Amino acid sequence: MTPPVAPDASPEQFPLPPGRSGLPVLGETLAYLRSSRAFTEARRQQYGNVFRTQLFGSPAVLLLGPEAVQWIFAGEGKYLTNRWTPGVRKLLGARCLSLIEGSEHLERRRLLAPHFSYATMRQFVPAIESLARRHFERWAAQPGDFTLWEGMRGLAFEIALTLIFGQDSADTSLLLHHFQRWTKGLFSPLTVDLPFTTFGKAMASKKVMLDYLERVVSERQKLAEQPPDLLGSLLNTRDDAGQPLARELIIDELQLLLFAGHDTTVTATSNLMLQLAQHPDVLQRGREAVASVEEPLSLDGLRSVPYVAQLIHEGMRLIPPIGGAFRTTTKDVVFQGFRIPKGWVVPVSITSAHAGPEWPNPNQFDPNRFAPNQPEQKKAGMYLPFGGGPRICLGQHFAMVEMSVMLVLLLKHYTWELTPGQDLTYTRIPFPRPKSGIQLRMRPLASATP
Ligand code: HEM
Repeated sequence: MTPPVAPDASPEQFPLPPGRSGLPVLGETLAYLRSSRAFTEARRQQYGNVFRTQLFGSPAVLLLGPEAVQWIFAGEGKYLTNRWTPGVRKLLGARCLSLIEGSEHLERRRLLAPHFSYATMRQFVPAIESLARRHFERWAAQPGDFTLWEGMRGLAFEIALTLIFGQDSADTSLLLHHFQRWTKGLFSPLTVDLPFTTFGKAMASKKVMLDYLERVVSERQKLAEQPPDLLGSLLNTRDDAGQPLARELIIDELQLLLFAGHDTTVTATSNLMLQLAQHPDVLQRGREAVASVEEPLSLDGLRSVPYVAQLIHEGMRLIPPIGGAFRTTTKDVVFQGFRIPKGWVVPVSITSAHAGPEWPNPNQFDPNRFAPNQPEQKKAGMYLPFGGGPRICLGQHFAMVEMSVMLVLLLKHYTWELTPGQDLTYTRIPFPRPKSGIQLRMRPLASATP
């Protein structure tokens, strides 16, 4: 299908990819938002792995398959740049990692990366374990059913606050309220800042959160020695000139970390619990796998059960918490014989990569795909729940350890049953979530009714 053009030809000599633009301005945005997967599959059948469309008011090109995914990740800072909605740009701190580009981004990653390494997570396991135990006990003591999504949001938020700010963090429920209003604004299509709009409320909550972060950071800067939490690490960080990070920059990063690590983890864990409830054979295998894990939990203990990671990976393959990200071309480029002009949108389609023809039976929940003897399933560009390239998720070890602790405790000590008759069809935006929020009844394993 590659058009016949000399290999040294300039981009203008290559044709645009096949495809259609759809309606004026709106393009094909609605169909894409309804189900990016169905949208992509239909066009993949018609045009192949490279096709154009129009999304969010801009011409766009979908590039599918593992090679295309690698090409996109390799293009960061060379021919592609990150693309965020105006709402996200206004609600996140202007100097946070996600909004900076090029060498500034790489430099910031270099400074932050050591605080998010797998080894660093060792110190956090006891705090995650103790919070997860407390919340799970409460869920299991509920006389009736409860909504898993809400429960997970409370737990994940408390874990994030504790790991970032230390054990005695402030009024969690008030902060969670403002945090939730703020995140709603991040996904609001309209950015009208009035007191009664979703976006306006988000801006007001952003102010409350910033005031809180400002206070905490100022107090902490007065300490002679920093406690061993993420804020302590950021305050101890020195750049190459030996200078500490600016306070506004630390606040911007804290806000980003709260956002980036919260609903993602909630989505992955809640959807995995749903899959396990629907696949009793897999659940049983999981229980057997964790039976010998010693408690209190440790990083080494978690690592000794690869099946736990297999479950988490397969859960995120089947339902990626982040379905995709967006880039824009910074110059005319050529991919597989087609010209992609400067300024076009290039989605990184995680959902499509996880369901592509490279995966046998992609709709089936099968953790054995990630067994150590199945290395071909881990080819670059096929499995990317945490993204890839220079912008790969900074908190991926954080997330994996947090989810592993929760899963081991759940498998070892609890049973959970879905409430019959609930609506488990998925809404996709902003995160893939069953409409019911997953209603279930949880009980301690030993006292579970047969
Ligand atoms: C299951 C949980 C998670 C998933 C699926 C996830 C997924 C992702 C993805 C796909 C990206 C790349 C976005 C892009 O390419 O534009 C990303 C970036 C990021 N994530 Fe995560 N994430 C998770 C948890 C976390 C946690 C727990 C933290 C922090 C504690 C975190 C912090 C970040 C940050 C700071 C970035 C921006 C990196 C950059 O721009 O250099 N994430 N995440």
